[in-house]
Amino acid sequence: MIKAAVFLLALISNVLAVEAVTCNATQSCPEELPCCSQFGECGTGSTCLGGCNPMFSFNSAACMPMPICQDSSTTFKNYSSRVASHDTYLGNTSEADWVYTGYLYDYDDEDSMLLAMPKYSAGTVLSSTRFMWYGKVSARLKSSHLGGVVSSFILFSNVQDEIDFEYVGADLQTVQTNFYFEGILNYNNSKNISTSDTFENYHDYELDWHEDYITWSVDGVVGRTLYKNQTYNDTTKRYEFPQTPSKVQLSLWPGGNATNPPGTIAWAGGEINWNADDLKDPGYYYASLQQVNITCYDPPSYASKNGTKSYQFTKDDSFLSEDVAITDKDSFLYSDEGSGLDPQKGKSSSSSSAASSSTSSSSSSSSSSSSSSAGSSSSKSTSTSKGTDKSSASTGSAAAQTTTASASKTTSLSSEQSTAFVQNMKSSSSSGAGSKQQQTSTGTNGANAISVGIPLVGILFGYLL
Ligand SMILES: *[C@@H]1O[C@H](CO)[C@@H](O)[C@H](O)[C@H]1NC(C)=O
Ligand SMILES: *[C@@H]1O[C@H](CO)[C@@H](O)[C@H](O)[C@H]1NC(C)=O
Ligand SMILES: *[C@@H]1O[C@H](CO)[C@@H](O)[C@H](O)[C@H]1NC(C)=O
Ligand SMILES: *[C@@H]1O[C@H](CO)[C@@H](O)[C@H](O)[C@H]1NC(C)=O
Ligand SMILES: *[C@@H]1O[C@H](CO)[C@@H](O)[C@H](O)[C@H]1NC(C)=O
Ligand SMILES: *[C@@H]1O[C@H](CO)[C@@H](O)[C@H](O)[C@H]1NC(C)=O
Ligand SMILES: *[C@@H]1O[C@H](CO)[C@@H](O)[C@H](O)[C@H]1NC(C)=O
Ligand SMILES: *[C@@H]1O[C@H](CO)[C@@H](O)[C@H](O)[C@H]1NC(C)=O
Ligand SMILES: *[C@@H]1O[C@H](CO)[C@@H](O)[C@H](O)[C@H]1NC(C)=O
Ligand SMILES: *[C@@H]1O[C@H](CO)[C@@H](O)[C@H](O)[C@H]1NC(C)=O
Repeated sequence: MIKAAVFLLALISNVLAVEAVTCNATQSCPEELPCCSQFGECGTGSTCLGGCNPMFSFNSAACMPMPICQDSSTTFKNYSSRVASHDTYLGNTSEADWVYTGYLYDYDDEDSMLLAMPKYSAGTVLSSTRFMWYGKVSARLKSSHLGGVVSSFILFSNVQDEIDFEYVGADLQTVQTNFYFEGILNYNNSKNISTSDTFENYHDYELDWHEDYITWSVDGVVGRTLYKNQTYNDTTKRYEFPQTPSKVQLSLWPGGNATNPPGTIAWAGGEINWNADDLKDPGYYYASLQQVNITCYDPPSYASKNGTKSYQFTKDDSFLSEDVAITDKDSFLYSDEGSGLDPQKGKSSSSSSAASSSTSSSSSSSSSSSSSSAGSSSSKSTSTSKGTDKSSASTGSAAAQTTTASASKTTSLSSEQSTAFVQNMKSSSSSGAGSKQQQTSTGTNGANAISVGIPLVGILFGYLL
């Protein structure tokens, strides 16, 4: 379901994407715009960093090498000013450990940082700048609440391997766990863990990701274990187990927005109430993040090691654990024109700190740049209390208006598609420009695709216990 969140963010960029070049399983990006974003759009610059999908990019080398894992502990106290914008960050990990799209606020009362979702907005995504290739990550957080409001804490790779905690605001005693392999939809992998009210209480959520198994824990108690050997697919003859370098992501998104497919809304616990008390004070829905700890594990013994700085996929047609190498290549760009094919493109000759000097320039190739940075810079609060920031609500409305046109283009999807439905939704939404409330499906069986969701298949979990 986190894929729906990705889609919602894609809508924002779609509005401004006057001449967006799209990418998917059948059409890779052209050499001039070689990087395929997680939203299925071709670009350069920030598009070639976290989220750059090598499967649909010009080639695997177009995506920048992924900065290698480093042990860290981040305390999100008075931290929002240190988080870089996803759209202007160019990969210098010395400048930022985290990037974001959306709305962040410091909340001094709880020494935390709020991921916010103003009225009608697509919410917020916070993402690590480094990747983890097996390791342990824990987060101390309070989820948001109420129907349709979904918070999440996940590991997410560039080929869309995914390991999830999801908090559906309609049921605060339940934390959903899930995983995906290469973005392939499989509705049978979800499993619940019970805990005390996730909105009222900080809990420690931990993902412990080994080559052979994953555990999901809450407050130090393992609630789920998945073994790699349980994920073998007899048809494809491979383990469909998350296995590629992944960013740590935390997010808040409107699963129950009225414009979403009915199944997504049902899974999210119903339509969002955009007039709830939170929208008046502090002015937005919010999840509160206090701390994230990352412990890196050694790479697999078979990994090709020729350096210590970054991970890179070595092939153009296979993206498994054995196709990842550790290299000494840099993972930063010199301008928003650069890509893995030419990281120094646009390098300014007078600057010795090119990466930082270019971060303020606006992007011509990244369609999402102007919308996201406008929304986020004005929403970035200097006020430090979630209770006093009234400006945020109006900012959110402005941002929401820009998404309205394309959000109404949401169509249902076919679950038969084997690629991530980010791509599917992207392609279906780009065909109906201008149409309002297009609820009909473009496919034959699309209407039910998302509605089968996670709930209906819970009985099938025997093999995951
Ligand atoms: C892939 O993108 C191309 C170009 O936008 C489009 O024509 C095609 O329908 C898309 N294919 C799929 C499977 O979405
Ligand atoms: C918050 O951090 C900024 C710089 O990052 C600093 O100038 C400011 O004094 C800090 N505020 C508090 C309340 O600690
Ligand atoms: C992070 O690590 C510190 C130091 O070991 C520990 O005190 C804290 O509880 C950890 N936080 C989380 C969220 O795991
Ligand atoms: C999920 O379970 C249903 C019901 O048993 C089954 O028909 C379907 O093939 C399963 N899907 C996958 C991807 O395993
Ligand atoms: C899967 O691996 C685990 C741990 O290595 C082992 O205990 C279990 O028996 C294996 N299960 C299967 C079906 O091979
Ligand atoms: C195995 O892969 C096939 C082909 O992609 C797919 O149709 C099927 O649902 C997969 N089975 C499981 C259990 O995921
Ligand atoms: C290892 O990296 C060095 C320098 O980056 C390069 O010259 C060499 O060819 C690489 N070796 C292999 C086996 O990739
Ligand atoms: C990366 O950022 C650091 C801190 O701002 C700076 O000192 C360094 O020069 C930057 N590296 C490059 C290559 O721009
Ligand atoms: C949410 O739905 C409203 C209509 O109720 C729409 O205006 C807005 O664009 C939607 N937001 C997102 C992020 O889809
Ligand atoms: C998890 O809990 C939700 C309610 O919060 C329920 O709808 C869903 O069916 C449960 N999923 C599983 C796999 O048990």
